[in-house]
Amino acid sequence: IAPIVRSVAELRAMTTAWHRAGETVGAVPTMGALHDGHLSLVAAAKERCDRVIVTIFVNPKQFNSPEDYENYPRTEHDDAAKLARFAVDAIFVPDGDEMYPQGFATGVSVMGLTDVLCGAHRPGHFDGVATVVTKLLLQTSADQAFFGEKDWQQVQVVRRLVADLNIPCEIVGCPTIREIDGLAMSSRNLLLSDRSRGRAAALHEALEDMAEGLRTGQAASDLRPKAEERLTAAGFTKVEYLDLRANEDLSLLERPDRPARLLVAAWLAGVRLIDNIGV
Ligand code: PAJ
Repeated sequence: IAPIVRSVAELRAMTTAWHRAGETVGAVPTMGALHDGHLSLVAAAKERCDRVIVTIFVNPKQFNSPEDYENYPRTEHDDAAKLARFAVDAIFVPDGDEMYPQGFATGVSVMGLTDVLCGAHRPGHFDGVATVVTKLLLQTSADQAFFGEKDWQQVQVVRRLVADLNIPCEIVGCPTIREIDGLAMSSRNLLLSDRSRGRAAALHEALEDMAEGLRTGQAASDLRPKAEERLTAAGFTKVEYLDLRANEDLSLLERPDRPARLLVAAWLAGVRLIDNIGV
């Protein structure tokens, strides 16, 4: 079973020794409540790096409400058991004071990319993500860090900050892992009732239908109303966005005339779900 490390100093001692021995270090940042989506990142890291650190920290700075933060599942014991199977080298679990000690006053903000999609609907969210990811990449001194495409905008934000701040870490994006019915795996799926869970696959189906329409030459703005109707019919109460956007700069597109993705965020029975697919 992998050692659970709670201090930055202890983590540094490990990574310094590994780097001195010429070994590469991979980091998989998470907020815990691990599912097969997270574990696919761990598998990718194990394949590409000599040493793998999984970080588990429920980052208060990226939540929009105290209740959401309090209700976030915390399952450290189960998480450690799931990771045992992958023989990771360390599980870094800092507490709030280790991450944000008295007097902490620095923030990382990525401009532009965070004005749209989730950034437009969750004020401050990406500042919290950018700040904690910057810290985690420096704390782990990772040569490579692994992020899921399920959170497509997050990957773009992280790539931007790593380039802008000259952090010597390669960001590796990994494909979205889905349930049998197509629903993207997410810790938040556990918050759905059986009835809502049965309807949640409509999110992915709406994306696939809209992608099909785009392939036959229709414009995103002409396809959107039907897709939204479909979501409403399935019981979704609010569609925050359903956009075709360029892969990297996230600019809004009508047609996939350059590499593009469809991205959606919608509410089902009080739970906010997101998904995206390439077109
Ligand atoms: P969390 O939601 O725990 O996700 C951790 C990583 O797992 C992220 O890179 C996320 O994109 C990836 N992931 C989640 N569901 C996935 C799925 N179904 N398939 C593939 N990958 C998936 O994202 C965060 O935590 C935080 O914002 C964090 C980056 C840790 C910063 O606090």
